[in-house]
Amino acid sequence: MSRLSEISRTSLGTLMTRANEGKEPESIEIAKFLDKKGLLDGFTTYTFPPVLKRTEIHDKLLLTFLEKFPDKNRILNLGCGFCTRRQRLKLDQVYWTDIDVEEIIDIRQQVLPEMDNHFFIAMNLLKETPKFDDYDIVIAEGSLMYLPFERSQVMVILAKNIHFDVIGENRKSLRGPDQLWSYKSSEWKNMGITQEIIYHDKRDDRVVTKYTDF
Ligand SMILES: C[S@@+](CC[C@H](N)C(=O)[O-])C[C@H]1O[C@@H](n2cnc3c(N)ncnc32)[C@H](O)[C@@H]1O
Repeated sequence: MSRLSEISRTSLGTLMTRANEGKEPESIEIAKFLDKKGLLDGFTTYTFPPVLKRTEIHDKLLLTFLEKFPDKNRILNLGCGFCTRRQRLKLDQVYWTDIDVEEIIDIRQQVLPEMDNHFFIAMNLLKETPKFDDYDIVIAEGSLMYLPFERSQVMVILAKNIHFDVIGENRKSLRGPDQLWSYKSSEWKNMGITQEIIYHDKRDDRVVTKYTDF
């Protein structure tokens, strides 16, 4: 493999922000691995600090959920990329499933392999739908906006509990060409949305929750 596909490459910005800005050991390790394979592709010094804020919000939401519902511990990470949340939060006791396209899962297996209670599924979310009933809570960090709008809504409808982030409708700067939609509250009003947290107000970027168990 000499270059990641366009869709997989979207995972490099978040990874490198956690490595370069967040100095997170697991992300640094993955970055070194990708660099050796020649797959970092111009992202070596990349950083976009608001991503760290977003990550922190997702971390807190998940920890709050697990604290409140210790038995609801089957977690699905949708569009996992090189997410290191399970390691960072030391969530060894939960059942954790990472889903992404095959190319990403192949690399994860080499650099941060599956362990007890930790499962990988290679799946193209455009073509297949996870078994949402198998999971208590779903995290979609930086991933739903890469799916067509209707497909993203299907994921949110099927998930019992989910937190995901979006590009707000008031964003002045352009979306990237592969980010397919921005979030308008009115288009989600029948979806059971419970909270919208703006984490980067200049761009109106938000983390959105839908909880049916709370
Ligand atoms: C910006 S990255 C975010 C990765 C990770 N959640 C994080 O925060 O570091 C978006 C991820 O969504 C995945 N993705 C996009 N479209 C997908 C699809 N159709 N099927 C599966 N994964 C997809 C990409 O491969 C990529 O890993």
